[in-house]
Amino acid sequence: MMKGMERKMKILVTGGAGYIGSHTTIELIKAGYDVVVLDNLDNSNEKVLDVICEVTGTRPTFYKVDLLDYDAVDQCFSENKFDAVIHFAGLKAVGESCRIPIRYYHNNITGTLNLVDIMQKHEVYNIVFSSSATVYGMPKTVPITEDFPLATTNPYGSTKLMLENILTDVFKANDKWSVTLLRYFNPIGAHESGKLGEDPKGIPNNLLPYVAQVAVGKLDFVHVFGNDYDTPDGTGVRDYIHVVDLALGHLKALEHKTNQPGVHIFNLGTGNGYSVLDVIRAFEKACGKTLPYKIEARRPGDIAICYADAKKAKEELGWEATRDITEMCEDAWRWQSNNPNGFCEL
Ligand code: NAD
Ligand code: UFG
Repeated sequence: MMKGMERKMKILVTGGAGYIGSHTTIELIKAGYDVVVLDNLDNSNEKVLDVICEVTGTRPTFYKVDLLDYDAVDQCFSENKFDAVIHFAGLKAVGESCRIPIRYYHNNITGTLNLVDIMQKHEVYNIVFSSSATVYGMPKTVPITEDFPLATTNPYGSTKLMLENILTDVFKANDKWSVTLLRYFNPIGAHESGKLGEDPKGIPNNLLPYVAQVAVGKLDFVHVFGNDYDTPDGTGVRDYIHVVDLALGHLKALEHKTNQPGVHIFNLGTGNGYSVLDVIRAFEKACGKTLPYKIEARRPGDIAICYADAKKAKEELGWEATRDITEMCEDAWRWQSNNPNGFCEL
């Protein structure tokens, strides 16, 4: 990938101390990129940078900076000549976004507006943006292709859809831009080293970290939100994707879309759907324990079934997920059992 290049490509990873950003930073360093991480540590821990250094032998340059601080972000661009930005930084909890929408809109939208304004000022025109399958709202059918209608049901999802539109307008106004919108399905799993993984604050909202905390004895049982959906076993079906596969999708996007003006949109999923009970069973196998669960009412806003058509990324980026649900659960368990209290242990 780097053959024939005079210098390493320099990448700014916003939100690089977070769950997906940290795994992507590791893969970028391993592939020979020069990586700078910018994060305000609002939902992450500085110890992640030590782990990245331990795993790769390289410590990325770190800016503890908030994207809302225009001057500090501008300063970071003055000190570095970036080739591209991978933009993970954002707030991501659906329920919280309904309680404090203004904070979500301000952080995610204003933060991104600052970033793209500063990028343009410094003539950095390549951005890879973390979007989400949430922009498909309540899809009428599955699998979901990139041209499905878009709609959102909560402020978090609305920030993603608005940012997709904003970045598209930025390209329309200046066709030097290469904008890659990556719509993630459900990222789970952890780094195979067991040293890095998802570390949610408080009680997890998402299924996999909740199941992992039941397995490690921090929570009593899994709440299964509904078993009366129109799915094979009645529980919700999702396209779970290993976080390292997801990380590698970003490298493929950089490889194929850097300096390719346009708006490039890809689903990053496996194309397979697993039910809540499938996930509990796979995790039981990984941890060697029976995991108690209770069937409860549906969670408001949830959809029955969601999985990707992942063909476009395969055809255009040469990317496909290779890690299956067993590996996702084994890696998540290694991380959770080694670090029952996440990065607070380290
Ligand atoms: P995360 O919370 O672990 O990482 C996000 C990082 O961004 C955190 O380290 C946080 O401190 C930082 N951040 C937030 N606001 C910031 C700001 N204003 N300035 C600087 N740093 C800031 O989340 P994640 O799971 O790694 O998600 C990364 C991206 O992918 C997010 O944009 C998220 O919306 C998107 N996404 C996540 C999922 C998922 O299920 N995890 C699914 C689809 C899309
Ligand atoms: N579920 C439970 N019990 C739990 C948590 C979840 O039964 O304790 C069920 C849900 O009802 C759903 C499935 O497990 O059927 C997955 O739920 P998650 O909360 O793990 O994930 P979602 O699909 O609801 O949402 C996630 C992210 C969103 C993102 C979306 C699409 O949280 O931000 O994937 O990418 F938009």
